[in-house]
Amino acid sequence: MTEPTRADRFSFGLWTVGWQARDPFGDPTRPPLDPVEAVHRLADLGAYGVTCHDDDLIPFGSTAAERDRLIARFRTALAETGLVVPMMTTNLFTHPVFKDGGFTSNDRTVRRFALRKVARNIDLAAEFGAQTYVLWGGREGSEYDGAKDVRAALDRYREAVDVLAGYVQERGYGIRLALEPKPNEPRGDILLPTVGHALAFIANLDHSDIVGVNPEVGHEQMAGLNYASGVAQALWADKLFHIDLNSQRGIKFDQDLAFGHGDLVNAFFLVDLLEHGGPDGGPSYSGPRHFDYKPSRTEDIDGVWASAAANMRMYLLLRERAAAYRTDPRVARAREESGVDNLRIPTLGQGETFADLLADRSAFEDFDADKAGERGYGFVRLNQLAIEHLVGVRPA
Ligand code: GCO
Ligand code: MN
Ligand code: MN
Repeated sequence: MTEPTRADRFSFGLWTVGWQARDPFGDPTRPPLDPVEAVHRLADLGAYGVTCHDDDLIPFGSTAAERDRLIARFRTALAETGLVVPMMTTNLFTHPVFKDGGFTSNDRTVRRFALRKVARNIDLAAEFGAQTYVLWGGREGSEYDGAKDVRAALDRYREAVDVLAGYVQERGYGIRLALEPKPNEPRGDILLPTVGHALAFIANLDHSDIVGVNPEVGHEQMAGLNYASGVAQALWADKLFHIDLNSQRGIKFDQDLAFGHGDLVNAFFLVDLLEHGGPDGGPSYSGPRHFDYKPSRTEDIDGVWASAAANMRMYLLLRERAAAYRTDPRVARAREESGVDNLRIPTLGQGETFADLLADRSAFEDFDADKAGERGYGFVRLNQLAIEHLVGVRPA
């Protein structure tokens, strides 16, 4: 099944298909896209949800009347198509006021303004029925080590996230917050640069229960990290609240390519993890499959919709391949030989204490390390099977 349906829970940011392709070197190559048009086209393509920053829908500085009008016509488009808004977020990066960040700007008046801007849009997110509110701190950082007191900045970051989480709870919104890590761009160095940094930060919050992460494929890869592995750690911590799917080719500027167009093998194992990494081989993640990509600057508007469809099709193709991989008896045997499931067995036996292990001669004194060291794990064979499934080789 490579035709997307609502049940697949695919969602897109308005800023993705709506990107006019302005980059630091060149003018836009595409005209503006009306959010109402985006909603209709995404619904036609089979998406179930649309997400946005406050400013994607309501340009910065709009009057209250204009704001109401824009919200009303967006609401009508949602009603006409049945599209939902599972996530919303705030633009704390475009306007010059945020040049040194929002929550962690060196200017306290800016920090207070940022909190108000987010709270206002959280109210709108609640009205739209969003379950997740993403916080991507693209401008929270610096270019110069002497310009930012990182510990003070983290204090202010924590203050902001705790205050907002408290606000959400007090209002009874039922929304959870998701921090989106990124190592750099637009700042030289961004605070909370990776999933690991974000998880450690969350553990230090008063409201850590409703704060998780929104990892983006390309952002981890910009730091040279393994994305599927980062997502696995977020799942392990029970903190995968949302996900930004796209792709990237190596350590360079944030490419935001269509899903699977970068590291395809890692994308395969990511889909395998999301779809088969849960208990009993079922899904490990039930939230939206959200695409945060940019249709390349070379594409015209037809190319925009073709690339949106490509993201969903790629996910479905990989889901199909991952299912075939999982049900192939050769894979089951190879996994067995590789000890993949052995790792699930606790190292100490049931009821065994560490003192028992210390007294177990077979574990150490009589253990033949040289013999155990002779074992081959067969990981290459297992990986070859995965890649053969990925490229569509059918078992003979
Ligand atoms: C990026 C980021 C952003 C954020 C989005 C949400 O590519 O640097 O993904 O697109 O996800 O702005 O706030
Ligand atoms: Mn990105
Ligand atoms: Mn993103």
